[in-house]
Amino acid sequence: MSNSKPSCTPSKQRTVNEDRNADFFDGWGEYHDMVGSLDTYSNSARALDSELAGRVVDVGSGGVVNYDCSRIAELVLVDLSEVKQAGSSWPSCVRPVLGSAVELPLETGGYDCLLMQMVVHHLAERDFATTRERVGQAFREAQRVLRPGGRLVVLESVMPGVLEWAERLAFPLTRRILAWMGHPLVFQWRAASLRRLAVEAGFGTAKESWVPRGRWMIFLGRRMPTALVPVRFVKLVATKAG
Ligand SMILES: C[S@@+](CC[C@H](N)C(=O)[O-])C[C@H]1O[C@@H](n2cnc3c(N)ncnc32)[C@H](O)[C@@H]1O
Repeated sequence: MSNSKPSCTPSKQRTVNEDRNADFFDGWGEYHDMVGSLDTYSNSARALDSELAGRVVDVGSGGVVNYDCSRIAELVLVDLSEVKQAGSSWPSCVRPVLGSAVELPLETGGYDCLLMQMVVHHLAERDFATTRERVGQAFREAQRVLRPGGRLVVLESVMPGVLEWAERLAFPLTRRILAWMGHPLVFQWRAASLRRLAVEAGFGTAKESWVPRGRWMIFLGRRMPTALVPVRFVKLVATKAG
């Protein structure tokens, strides 16, 4: 089991919402236990079973290694959160690294798979245009570090299209409410938007499939019955042209 300290200090100043994310997850002591106990996350882990092999990067890992590692030779866990990236017991193939999804401190073209599990909605910042640009930048970074033929695997909670539009319109209000709640800014995409952003970032193909919802999930930092939350779970697999 690996228990190493994370390497690298992010080279740039963190953004406002990166700071909020790091503080929020650093201070959320029971996060791993909650993820481990909820059926929705067992379903998403199962959906990853056949996806991860070789040299793998898990961006926004939160220190959660809830998937099969038997075919993984090296697993780089990238996160802003220093606490979540230290002190956990992981398989020996793990290398924790501090860094941001939009500027990965990793070499170009060296990895077979890059996973983003429940992290894209956290790449929100200031307004819709900035948020869209940041997700695009994170996907371009994924494209950069993957080898030709490598795959970006995004597991994400997504909204129906009409609610994505409502979120866009209500962005300034949502930003204030979430700040008042002490929650980092989030923006929940619809599946088709994620696919479009992956293709715009240069991925040759991008296909999505649905992951069954469990009875319980985490929403805005709380354990919630999924029946009360208007999201579905999607797995998007985008391949870098060979
Ligand atoms: C909801 S948790 C998901 C953790 C884990 N992937 C899982 O599926 O349980 C979101 C994680 O993304 C991280 N995060 C947020 N913004 C990030 C960014 N810009 N770069 C890297 N990680 C980020 C947070 O620190 C947090 O650990």
